[in-house]
Amino acid sequence: MRIDILTIFPEFFSVLDVSLVGKARQSGLIDLGVHNLRDHTHDRHNTVDDTPYGGGAGMVMKPEPWGEALDEIIASLGTTDAGPVLIFPSPAGELFTQKTARELAGEPNLVFGCGRYEGIDQRVFDHYAATGRVRLISLGDYVLNGGEVAVMAMIEAIGRLIPGVVGNPESLVEESHEDGLLEYPSYTKPPSWRGHDVPPVLRSGNHGAIAAWRREQQLERTSRVRPDLLPPANSEAGAKPGE
Ligand code: ADE
Repeated sequence: MRIDILTIFPEFFSVLDVSLVGKARQSGLIDLGVHNLRDHTHDRHNTVDDTPYGGGAGMVMKPEPWGEALDEIIASLGTTDAGPVLIFPSPAGELFTQKTARELAGEPNLVFGCGRYEGIDQRVFDHYAATGRVRLISLGDYVLNGGEVAVMAMIEAIGRLIPGVVGNPESLVEESHEDGLLEYPSYTKPPSWRGHDVPPVLRSGNHGAIAAWRREQQLERTSRVRPDLLPPANSEAGAKPGE
Protein backbone atom coordinates (compact mmCIF):
# COMPACT_ATOMS: atom_id res chain seq x y z
CA MET A 1 0.00 0.00 0.00
CA ARG A 2 1.19 3.49 -0.83
CA ILE A 3 0.28 6.17 1.74
CA ASP A 4 0.90 9.90 1.21
CA ILE A 5 0.48 12.47 3.97
CA LEU A 6 0.17 16.19 3.39
CA THR A 7 0.82 18.35 6.45
CA ILE A 8 2.46 21.54 7.71
CA PHE A 9 4.17 19.42 10.39
CA PRO A 10 6.04 16.62 8.55
CA GLU A 11 8.21 16.03 11.63
CA PHE A 12 5.15 14.67 13.45
CA PHE A 13 5.34 11.52 11.36
CA SER A 14 8.87 10.45 12.28
CA VAL A 15 7.27 8.09 14.82
CA LEU A 16 5.99 6.02 11.90
CA ASP A 17 9.57 4.71 11.60
CA VAL A 18 9.07 2.58 14.70
CA SER A 19 6.91 -0.35 15.80
CA LEU A 20 4.73 -2.43 13.46
CA VAL A 21 4.24 0.32 10.89
CA GLY A 22 8.00 0.96 10.85
CA LYS A 23 8.64 -2.74 10.22
CA ALA A 24 5.97 -2.83 7.50
CA ARG A 25 7.76 0.06 5.80
CA GLN A 26 11.11 -1.68 6.00
CA SER A 27 9.68 -4.83 4.49
CA GLY A 28 7.96 -2.88 1.71
CA LEU A 29 4.38 -3.66 2.76
CA ILE A 30 3.75 0.05 3.33
CA ASP A 31 5.36 2.77 1.24
CA LEU A 32 4.98 6.13 3.00
CA GLY A 33 5.52 9.63 1.63
CA VAL A 34 5.26 12.71 3.87
CA HIS A 35 4.88 16.07 2.11
CA ASN A 36 5.09 19.61 3.46
CA LEU A 37 2.12 21.75 2.40
CA ARG A 38 4.28 24.86 2.75
CA ASP A 39 6.41 23.65 -0.18
CA HIS A 40 3.37 24.55 -2.29
CA THR A 41 3.12 28.19 -1.23
CA HIS A 42 4.64 30.97 -3.30
CA ASP A 43 4.84 33.97 -0.97
CA ARG A 44 7.66 35.08 1.32
CA HIS A 45 5.89 33.88 4.45
CA ASN A 46 4.76 30.49 3.09
CA THR A 47 1.19 31.35 3.99
CA VAL A 48 -1.27 28.47 4.19
CA ASP A 49 -4.23 30.19 5.91
CA ASP A 50 -6.40 33.29 5.73
CA THR A 51 -9.43 34.83 7.45
CA PRO A 52 -12.84 33.21 6.87
CA TYR A 53 -15.35 34.70 4.45
CA GLY A 54 -18.44 35.69 6.40
CA GLY A 55 -16.39 36.46 9.50
CA GLY A 56 -15.85 34.41 12.62
CA ALA A 57 -12.97 33.35 14.78
CA GLY A 58 -9.88 31.55 13.56
CA MET A 59 -8.28 31.00 10.20
CA VAL A 60 -9.13 28.79 7.26
CA MET A 61 -6.58 26.91 5.14
CA LYS A 62 -6.31 28.40 1.65
CA PRO A 63 -7.25 26.16 -1.29
CA GLU A 64 -4.30 26.93 -3.62
CA PRO A 65 -1.49 25.10 -1.74
CA TRP A 66 -3.78 22.10 -1.25
CA GLY A 67 -4.70 22.03 -4.94
CA GLU A 68 -1.11 22.23 -6.12
CA ALA A 69 0.14 19.62 -3.64
CA LEU A 70 -2.71 17.15 -4.15
CA ASP A 71 -2.47 17.41 -7.95
CA GLU A 72 1.23 16.60 -7.71
CA ILE A 73 0.74 13.65 -5.34
CA ILE A 74 -2.13 12.21 -7.40
CA ALA A 75 -0.14 12.57 -10.63
CA SER A 76 2.87 10.83 -9.04
CA LEU A 77 0.72 7.76 -8.29
CA GLY A 78 0.03 7.17 -11.97
CA THR A 79 -3.36 5.93 -13.09
CA THR A 80 -4.93 3.25 -10.94
CA ASP A 81 -8.49 1.96 -11.46
CA ALA A 82 -10.33 4.13 -9.02
CA GLY A 83 -7.54 6.55 -8.03
CA PRO A 84 -6.51 7.14 -4.42
CA VAL A 85 -8.92 7.74 -1.55
CA LEU A 86 -8.35 11.26 -0.24
CA ILE A 87 -8.90 11.29 3.52
CA PHE A 88 -9.27 14.46 5.53
CA PRO A 89 -9.47 14.00 9.31
CA SER A 90 -12.14 16.33 10.66
CA PRO A 91 -14.40 16.45 13.70
CA ALA A 92 -17.16 17.13 11.14
CA GLY A 93 -16.54 13.83 9.33
CA GLU A 94 -18.02 10.33 9.46
CA LEU A 95 -16.91 8.27 12.46
CA PHE A 96 -13.77 6.13 12.03
CA THR A 97 -14.50 2.53 13.05
CA GLN A 98 -12.94 -0.90 12.56
CA LYS A 99 -15.17 -1.22 9.47
CA THR A 100 -13.64 1.97 8.03
CA ALA A 101 -10.15 0.62 8.78
CA ARG A 102 -10.99 -2.65 7.00
CA GLU A 103 -12.36 -0.85 3.94
CA LEU A 104 -9.30 1.37 3.67
CA ALA A 105 -6.85 -1.52 4.24
CA GLY A 106 -7.99 -2.93 0.89
CA GLU A 107 -7.02 0.20 -1.06
CA PRO A 108 -3.72 0.48 -2.96
CA ASN A 109 -3.40 4.26 -2.47
CA LEU A 110 -4.40 6.49 0.44
CA VAL A 111 -3.72 10.22 0.64
CA PHE A 112 -4.21 11.91 4.02
CA GLY A 113 -4.60 15.70 4.20
CA CYS A 114 -4.01 17.15 7.66
CA GLY A 115 -6.00 20.31 8.28
CA ARG A 116 -5.17 22.81 11.01
CA TYR A 117 -6.89 25.94 12.33
CA GLU A 118 -10.63 26.08 11.61
CA GLY A 119 -10.29 23.64 8.71
CA ILE A 120 -9.68 23.66 4.97
CA ASP A 121 -11.58 25.72 2.39
CA GLN A 122 -14.63 23.60 1.45
CA ARG A 123 -13.84 23.93 -2.27
CA VAL A 124 -10.86 21.59 -1.88
CA PHE A 125 -13.19 18.76 -0.84
CA ASP A 126 -15.77 19.66 -3.51
CA HIS A 127 -13.16 19.84 -6.27
CA TYR A 128 -11.64 16.41 -5.63
CA ALA A 129 -15.00 14.78 -4.81
CA ALA A 130 -16.20 15.76 -8.30
CA THR A 131 -13.69 13.43 -9.94
CA GLY A 132 -12.55 11.04 -7.20
CA ARG A 133 -13.14 9.66 -3.74
CA VAL A 134 -12.98 12.02 -0.77
CA ARG A 135 -13.76 11.07 2.83
CA LEU A 136 -13.89 13.38 5.84
CA ILE A 137 -13.29 11.16 8.85
CA SER A 138 -13.56 11.88 12.57
CA LEU A 139 -11.83 9.91 15.29
CA GLY A 140 -14.55 10.76 17.78
CA ASP A 141 -16.68 13.48 19.29
CA TYR A 142 -13.88 15.69 20.52
CA VAL A 143 -11.67 18.31 18.91
CA LEU A 144 -7.95 17.92 18.24
CA ASN A 145 -5.72 20.82 17.22
CA GLY A 146 -5.18 19.33 13.80
CA GLY A 147 -5.38 16.16 11.75
CA GLU A 148 -1.87 14.82 12.39
CA VAL A 149 -2.60 12.76 15.51
CA ALA A 150 -5.80 11.46 13.92
CA VAL A 151 -3.90 10.38 10.80
CA MET A 152 -1.38 8.51 12.92
CA ALA A 153 -4.16 6.63 14.70
CA MET A 154 -5.84 5.78 11.40
CA ILE A 155 -2.60 4.58 9.78
CA GLU A 156 -1.93 2.30 12.73
CA ALA A 157 -5.46 0.86 12.63
CA ILE A 158 -5.37 0.41 8.84
CA GLY A 159 -1.75 -0.73 8.60
CA ARG A 160 -2.16 -3.67 10.97
CA LEU A 161 -4.96 -5.05 8.76
CA ILE A 162 -2.73 -5.24 5.68
CA PRO A 163 -1.86 -8.93 5.16
CA GLY A 164 1.63 -9.67 6.50
CA VAL A 165 1.92 -6.64 8.81
CA VAL A 166 0.77 -8.47 11.96
CA GLY A 167 2.83 -11.65 12.38
CA ASN A 168 0.01 -13.87 13.62
CA PRO A 169 -3.17 -13.04 11.65
CA GLU A 170 -5.25 -15.01 14.20
CA SER A 171 -4.63 -12.24 16.70
CA LEU A 172 -6.66 -9.93 14.45
CA VAL A 173 -9.73 -12.13 14.61
CA GLU A 174 -10.32 -12.22 18.35
CA GLU A 175 -9.98 -8.58 19.21
CA SER A 176 -12.30 -5.78 20.15
CA HIS A 177 -14.67 -4.61 17.40
CA GLU A 178 -13.87 -7.38 14.91
CA ASP A 179 -17.13 -9.20 15.74
CA GLY A 180 -18.92 -6.04 16.84
CA LEU A 181 -18.26 -6.70 20.54
CA LEU A 182 -15.52 -5.68 22.96
CA GLU A 183 -12.74 -8.18 23.55
CA TYR A 184 -12.83 -10.63 26.49
CA PRO A 185 -10.29 -10.11 29.32
CA SER A 186 -6.88 -11.82 28.92
CA TYR A 187 -4.62 -13.45 31.51
CA THR A 188 -1.12 -14.96 31.54
CA LYS A 189 1.15 -16.51 34.18
CA PRO A 190 1.38 -16.50 37.18
CA PRO A 191 -1.95 -18.14 38.10
CA SER A 192 -2.24 -15.94 41.20
CA TRP A 193 -0.99 -12.34 41.47
CA ARG A 194 -1.47 -10.08 44.51
CA GLY A 195 -4.44 -12.16 45.59
CA HIS A 196 -6.14 -12.06 42.17
CA ASP A 197 -6.59 -15.48 40.59
CA VAL A 198 -6.90 -16.39 36.94
CA PRO A 199 -10.50 -17.58 36.34
CA PRO A 200 -10.31 -21.38 36.82
CA VAL A 201 -12.12 -22.13 33.54
CA LEU A 202 -9.13 -20.74 31.59
CA ARG A 203 -6.90 -23.37 33.24
CA SER A 204 -9.40 -26.20 32.77
CA GLY A 205 -8.26 -27.26 29.31
CA ASN A 206 -11.95 -27.45 28.32
CA HIS A 207 -11.99 -25.55 25.03
CA GLY A 208 -15.78 -25.47 24.75
CA ALA A 209 -16.15 -24.05 28.26
CA ILE A 210 -13.38 -21.50 27.58
CA ALA A 211 -15.05 -20.32 24.37
CA ALA A 212 -18.43 -20.01 26.15
CA TRP A 213 -16.89 -18.09 29.07
CA ARG A 214 -15.12 -15.70 26.70
CA ARG A 215 -18.34 -15.02 24.76
CA GLU A 216 -20.19 -14.38 28.02
CA GLN A 217 -17.46 -11.95 29.10
CA GLN A 218 -17.64 -10.14 25.77
CA LEU A 219 -21.40 -9.69 26.10
CA GLU A 220 -21.20 -8.63 29.75
CA ARG A 221 -18.41 -6.13 29.10
CA THR A 222 -20.07 -4.71 25.99
CA SER A 223 -23.46 -4.25 27.65
CA ARG A 224 -21.83 -2.62 30.68
CA VAL A 225 -19.33 -0.32 28.92
CA ARG A 226 -20.65 0.13 25.37
CA PRO A 227 -24.35 -0.81 25.18
CA ASP A 228 -24.55 1.24 21.97
CA LEU A 229 -22.59 -1.53 20.19
CA LEU A 230 -25.17 -4.25 20.89
CA PRO A 231 -27.88 -5.04 18.36
CA PRO A 232 -31.13 -3.31 19.48
CA ALA A 233 -32.82 -6.51 20.73
CA ASN A 234 -30.06 -7.18 23.29
CA SER A 235 -29.54 -3.66 24.61
CA GLU A 236 -31.44 -1.64 27.19
CA ALA A 237 -31.42 1.29 24.78
CA GLY A 238 -33.15 -0.76 22.11
CA ALA A 239 -35.79 -2.21 24.43
CA LYS A 240 -39.29 -0.84 23.96
CA PRO A 241 -40.81 1.01 26.94
CA GLY A 242 -42.24 -1.46 29.43
CA GLU A 243 -39.98 -4.32 28.33
N1 ADE B 1 -9.25 17.07 13.70
C1 ADE B 1 -9.65 17.76 14.76
N2 ADE B 1 -10.43 17.02 15.55
C2 ADE B 1 -10.53 15.80 14.95
C3 ADE B 1 -11.20 14.60 15.27
N3 ADE B 1 -11.95 14.47 16.35
N4 ADE B 1 -11.07 13.57 14.44
C4 ADE B 1 -10.34 13.68 13.34
N5 ADE B 1 -9.69 14.79 12.98
C5 ADE B 1 -9.78 15.84 13.78
